[in-house]
This record gives sequence, C-alpha cells and structure tokens, in this order.
Amino acid sequence: MIATGPTPCVGAERDREQAGTTRRYDRNAFLYDLYDQPMDLLGGVRRRRRRMLAHAGGRVLEVGVVTGRNLDLYPAGLDLTGIDVSERMLARARRRARRLEMPTIVFDQADIGRLPYPDATFDTIVATCVFCSAADPIAGLAELARVVRGDGEVLLVEHVRPRSRPLGWLADRLNPVIVGLISANINRCPEDNVIADVLDVRRGVVWREIRARSPVSATATEESAPTPQNKEART
Ligand SMILES: C[S@@+](CC[C@H](N)C(=O)[O-])C[C@H]1O[C@@H](n2cnc3c(N)ncnc32)[C@H](O)[C@@H]1O
Repeated sequence: MIATGPTPCVGAERDREQAGTTRRYDRNAFLYDLYDQPMDLLGGVRRRRRRMLAHAGGRVLEVGVVTGRNLDLYPAGLDLTGIDVSERMLARARRRARRLEMPTIVFDQADIGRLPYPDATFDTIVATCVFCSAADPIAGLAELARVVRGDGEVLLVEHVRPRSRPLGWLADRLNPVIVGLISANINRCPEDNVIADVLDVRRGVVWREIRARSPVSATATEESAPTPQNKEART
C-alpha cells in the first residue's frame, strides 16, 4: 500500500540515519550546485520547479532549501522561510539570498520531521527533491500537513521509483550507490504517502509534480490512489 523502496525507519535508527544524511550534505555543500545544476537543466527539473513555484503565495515555507536553488524562481512579494538540516547548505543559501537581494528571507536549521512552527502557520509549503533524502519521509509529510493552513497548498516536485519493471529494477540496484554518494534514494514513492485533497498531479517517468491542500497525511491507504477529480498529465 505504501512507498515502494526502503521502509522508513523510526526512533534511534531514524536519528542515526538522519545524522549520517546531514553529515553527507554538510560535506558536499561546496559541490552541490556543481552536480545538481546539470541535472536540473538536462532533466528539465528547472522547468518543473518554475511551474510549481508559480503557485506559491503568502507566507511560504520551503523545506530542504539546500543552497537556495529555488530562490530566484519565486514570484515577488512573498514572506519566505527556508529550512534545512545542513548548516553548511544554509550558509550558502543565505549568501545566495544576499546576492539576489532578498534580505527578508528567514533561514532556520530544522528537521522536516520536527518543524519548530505552530500548527497552520504557512499559506504555501514547498518541497523539491527532499523526500528522497529525509530519513523519515512519512513524518515529514505529516509535519507539512500540520503547519500548512487549511486553505493553503503544499507544492511538491519529487522523483520516484519508476513504475516500469526494468527501470524499477535498475533503480533498486543503483540506489545503494547513489545513497552512498549523495544521500538521495531513487526508489521511494512519496506520492503514495500524500492523501487527502490532491489538486493536481503531473507525472513523468521519474518525476511527480503534486499540488495538495491540507491535510496532507502520512497515513497511506488505498485511498491514496489518485481520485477521479485529480487531474493527471504526462510530460
Ligand atoms: C537532494 S537535496 C535537494 C534540495 C533542494 N530542495 C533542491 O531542489 O535541489 C535535499 C536537501 O534536503 C535536506 N534534508 C535532508 N533531510 C532533511 C530533513 N530531515 N529535514 C530538513 N532537510 C533535510 C538536505 O540537507 C538537502 O539540503
């Protein structure tokens, strides 16, 4: 019923895994833009980010903000907060915000599974390529549901395990190598953990662009399958 790929871990195991992920992102912070930029352009991810961020409005939380790769894509006039577990990524994001003359952005070091904000704080929550690396993606999705306002939107651009058998098989084989290198699981399916009011899903072979209204729940069930009212598009 739930995410294909590794079972999310709990408790101490989760904390250990998350600490390892955080260390790896800290270590790779100086390289991140170098290896992510080509993927962004070649894989059309930049286009997907831009399309999704056009829906952001009001008080916005971006989780897993990394080096601030999305900052220049936001519409003007937002009240933006960015969080990440990696302090070194955040240092780079702060520098990028200064370069882009976006001095009002708030950056907090925080874990998506334990967000330091009251319920219903944000109008929009953005996560791009984050649930591949968070140790407990289900807790993360639950936290997004908690801190988004009732009429707010959660905007996700995430890669998933391909549904085709040969590509899924390949993703499973490559996954340990990719996790070892950059802490990103390529065989998860966060889409299956988002239930409730999914407004729009755009599907590619490995990409999902999902717009959802609160509550975004972590409790994946059969009902998590797209409902007829969900618009679906292939790119
Ligand atoms: C693959 S990078 C992608 C980031 C960026 N959003 C993008 O689109 O390029 C994942 C980011 O999520 C952060 N991250 C991983 N686990 C996290 C967690 N539990 N809470 C918050 N951030 C986390 C990492 O430090 C890293 O900066």
